[in-house]
Amino acid sequence: MATPTDPLAALAARAHDCRACGLAATRTNVVFGVGDPRAPLMFVGEGPGEQEDLQGEPFVGRAGRLLTTLIEGIGLTREDVYIANVVKCRPPGNRNPAPDEIAACAPFLEEQLDLVEPRVVVTLGNFATKLLLDTKVGITKLRGQTFPYRDGVLIPVLHPSAVLRNGGAALAQARADFVTIKRTLAA
Ligand code: URA
Repeated sequence: MATPTDPLAALAARAHDCRACGLAATRTNVVFGVGDPRAPLMFVGEGPGEQEDLQGEPFVGRAGRLLTTLIEGIGLTREDVYIANVVKCRPPGNRNPAPDEIAACAPFLEEQLDLVEPRVVVTLGNFATKLLLDTKVGITKLRGQTFPYRDGVLIPVLHPSAVLRNGGAALAQARADFVTIKRTLAA
């Protein structure tokens, strides 16, 4: 197949051929990313789950439906934003991505950030937050704050799966963080 001239599509093509870590052996699909390639707002999750692996698209399962609802709650659609993950292939059984898998996949995320150039990056949960902020501090301590990141702002938010698990107060925190996202985008 000819290499696409669009740099994001070319990067996606490279990811689809990637065998840099063991996740390549068990994946159904590489889940590269989806949305507006020049979106001002980019979400970064952890890694594909079962539905994402089957469909080749991030956040299309139960957690994804909540993410979509939260995005729509601030007057946007999935098409207005860009959505990616720390690892592009499903860790078997939805286990946590291993450090070597995160390290092997990180250059794809860095290049996605280089190409999309979002003004606001929202990290969903611990893995994305720790990777992009280069910190060991957990998400429950970091959410509710905003951080300078590249030429813009990074906003750590609870992972939608954690919100589904914990309900009530966690959902209220996520909603409040999405209001911050909306306000930051408007600033
Ligand atoms: N959880 C994630 O972190 N990413 C997805 O794409 C789906 C669920």
